[in-house]
Amino acid sequence: MVIIKTEQEIEMMKRSGKLLAKIHREIAKMIRPGISTYEIDQFVEEYMRKNGATPEQKGYHGYPYATCASINDEICHGFPRKTPLKDGDIVTIDMVVNLDGWLADSAWSYPVGNISDEARKLLDVTKKSLYIGIEKAVIGNRIGDISHAIQSYVESEGFSVVRDFVGHGIGKSMHEDPQVPHFGKAGRGLRLMEGMVITIEPMVNVGHYACTIDDNQWTARTIDGKLSAQYEHTIAITKDGPLILTDQEED
Ligand code: MF3
Ligand code: CO
Repeated sequence: MVIIKTEQEIEMMKRSGKLLAKIHREIAKMIRPGISTYEIDQFVEEYMRKNGATPEQKGYHGYPYATCASINDEICHGFPRKTPLKDGDIVTIDMVVNLDGWLADSAWSYPVGNISDEARKLLDVTKKSLYIGIEKAVIGNRIGDISHAIQSYVESEGFSVVRDFVGHGIGKSMHEDPQVPHFGKAGRGLRLMEGMVITIEPMVNVGHYACTIDDNQWTARTIDGKLSAQYEHTIAITKDGPLILTDQEED
């Protein structure tokens, strides 16, 4: 069941989203060879708590950290770790802020030091695919319009879209209906309505889209060991078009 949000509820979610966006801007300043994803995780948890928020991922189905930190061939749900990041790595930091009971969800991939041309292209294509998806998040379109736009752009660039993890509705719970796949057919699926709030969060692989799960039962990585990246925003469907609640632009 899709839970439609009122304008006031979307305002509350915008507050969570703004805090989350601020944290990503701080992470962007911290990322460099030598820092560990464990340090970043601790920073994130502290930052949320100082601002009256809590890390919704921590304890979610037993997930042990405030953030997911997925490095290179890790697709998602990487565990923060004390091993320092290295020059040339790419790392995706994913988190969910809970502020006064309302959630926002955003993942961002970061380059560490100097990265390869292939990694640079992967980050650029993945980020652009997110915004191509967001453009389709308008009243009257269907979920499949978002899915199809993302898949066709990503594949036209020679990369693949992960099938096993999808975007989702979000509000007072992290995962609400509907599911938002990043692959599929235009004109299919649920019709988008005013007051829906969803995430769009394409995970894009350089090689095959298939993944394996690590022994920790959480971390998904590419089956061929090639790179994966992800960008995610929380989006409200409004009369004025898609509203990016986790937008990182200063205002
Ligand atoms: N933020 C993730 C999502 O996009 C959820 C991570 S799973 C968790 O749905 F267990 F770590 F929370
Ligand atoms: Co999400």
